[in-house]
Amino acid sequence: MTDTLLADGTHPDAARERDRWAASADAWDRWADPMAGLADKLNRPLLDAAEVAEGDRLLDLASGAGEPALSAARRVGPGGLVVGSDLVPGMMAGAVRRARTAEGAAPVFLAADMTALPFADGAFDRVTCRFGIMFVPPVDRALREVRRVLRPGGRAAFMVWGPRAGNGLFAEIGAVVADHLGEDGSLDPLFRFADPGTLTTILRAAGFQHGGETDLTPVRKAPAGQPFWHAALEMSFGHRLGGLPADRRAALEADIAARFAAKAVDGVVPVPSHARIVVGW
Ligand SMILES: C[S@@+](CC[C@H](N)C(=O)[O-])C[C@H]1O[C@@H](n2cnc3c(N)ncnc32)[C@H](O)[C@@H]1O
Repeated sequence: MTDTLLADGTHPDAARERDRWAASADAWDRWADPMAGLADKLNRPLLDAAEVAEGDRLLDLASGAGEPALSAARRVGPGGLVVGSDLVPGMMAGAVRRARTAEGAAPVFLAADMTALPFADGAFDRVTCRFGIMFVPPVDRALREVRRVLRPGGRAAFMVWGPRAGNGLFAEIGAVVADHLGEDGSLDPLFRFADPGTLTTILRAAGFQHGGETDLTPVRKAPAGQPFWHAALEMSFGHRLGGLPADRRAALEADIAARFAAKAVDGVVPVPSHARIVVGW
């Protein structure tokens, strides 16, 4: 099997991943609308890389609360089709809710494990997946499925995270969470494809003949003194916060706030992020 291991030499664990996302599904629903503007800034280059156009039939994998499926539906228009999918049905509650009020033709959402897709060969023109492929233990199996459901000449685009150190929210919040609750390694899968070329190598082994990678390294200018980190804490660390007594949660949040406050310059906290778009066709 062509694959990549985590820093500790293991694969992500399927049951642990399912539990993690089930536990943070409410937070993803709650934060989906407030984060929609920031989400779209990442969705647009991902859809561009997949060359998504009006009339396309697009499959979005690991859609969570609907990113980028909802943006994709606006782009393909009423003559196209967007199917959003995710392993964990609860993660799509926000997507289904948001689709009801979406402009134009709404995507259809259904539960599906990307390692065994319930679609016919060649059913889609485009496949997208934003921050999802890294959580799948047999990633090579998922990519062969992607290739199978794409029509000949179809195109897939994946968004993954670059290194942890280049992603300020994960680095800073992760350090405080580890101080308070211990290091459990659950952040490691996020950075599974942080090394350039890793995912492209697996795409090629899965039968994609062409590939390319583009790094995005925006620096968000967050307002000092505001809890701009709150969404990231609840969405990416929510599985660790359940049942935490209020006083311990307050102490943890105070330390996160202090850590970011120490980075403020003229009322602004620079928060770097590093994402990578990997395409195959
Ligand atoms: C970080 S969230 C990304 C959600 C959304 N694409 C976004 O960017 O906001 C990761 C998602 O991957 C999903 N996932 C994990 N393993 C999966 C699998 N084998 N098949 C499909 N989805 C999976 C999880 O349920 C979760 O919703």
